[in-house]
Amino acid sequence: MIQPSVITSYQDKQVSPFPKDLDPLRMPDHIAVIMDGNGRWAKARGLPRTVGHTAGVEALKTTLRLCSDWGIGALTVYAFSTENWSRPGEEVSFLMTLFERVLQKELITLKSKQVKINFLGDLEPLPISLKALIRESVKSTSCNKGIHLNICTNYGGRRELVLAAQRLAERSVKGEIEPSLIDEQVFAAELFTASEVDPDLLIRTSGESRISNFLLWQLAYAEIHITEVLWPDFDEIALKKALVDYQSRGRRFGGV
Ligand code: IPE
Ligand code: IPE
Ligand code: MG
Repeated sequence: MIQPSVITSYQDKQVSPFPKDLDPLRMPDHIAVIMDGNGRWAKARGLPRTVGHTAGVEALKTTLRLCSDWGIGALTVYAFSTENWSRPGEEVSFLMTLFERVLQKELITLKSKQVKINFLGDLEPLPISLKALIRESVKSTSCNKGIHLNICTNYGGRRELVLAAQRLAERSVKGEIEPSLIDEQVFAAELFTASEVDPDLLIRTSGESRISNFLLWQLAYAEIHITEVLWPDFDEIALKKALVDYQSRGRRFGGV
């Protein structure tokens, strides 16, 4: 099993030059990623699934560094879904500990790299110590001017929509908002992603062609790139491929 000591730090890596085959003027502002395939990556090596999750952290650090170097404004990653609680208790608690350990280890570097961290989802059921660290991370990076890193933890698109509807209903009952004035903008302001533009590009690794309850509202017009690469193997080549694919698309938004 990979020990925490070999989790390299985000600051150890050098700046990656902007790829020649990409148009700097047509980069996505916001990339969303369903980081899938950790378990299969480990299984293919005869290792426990947990090793795949640890290896997946490295892929996330690489992806964040590249997105930051290449001028992407926001990276939103799916770390744990509302459905992932149905996994064996051991795997769930391993993941919670991993999130905490990685956040603890990386926070100083993330701060110095100007990364603005946010956690999207219903954070209430998370372990108390993880919640405290999340609060500290979000608060201490809130004024940072670099890339936004949104980590979806106990996130479910349907739950997010229901919570937004509940809040609007409450405000309406209190007389704060007229139901007929609830439009798309007002609704979007109640979502976890309130301050973020919608993702331009969704990447899903491990070849699955579904969105698994991720950003149901926000992905309305995202370009979707599905790769067979398993998340722990996702690297500079894989990200560049996704971006080349993205830049080859004609985005019409319903127009002609
Ligand atoms: C994604 O990898 C990580 C999480 C959902 C936490 P998986 O654990 O789903 O890996 P596979 O899909 O079983 O290979
Ligand atoms: C989606 O992956 C959730 C995360 C990547 C955190 P899953 O592995 O949970 O999705 P399904 O079960 O294949 O749809
Ligand atoms: Mg999976």
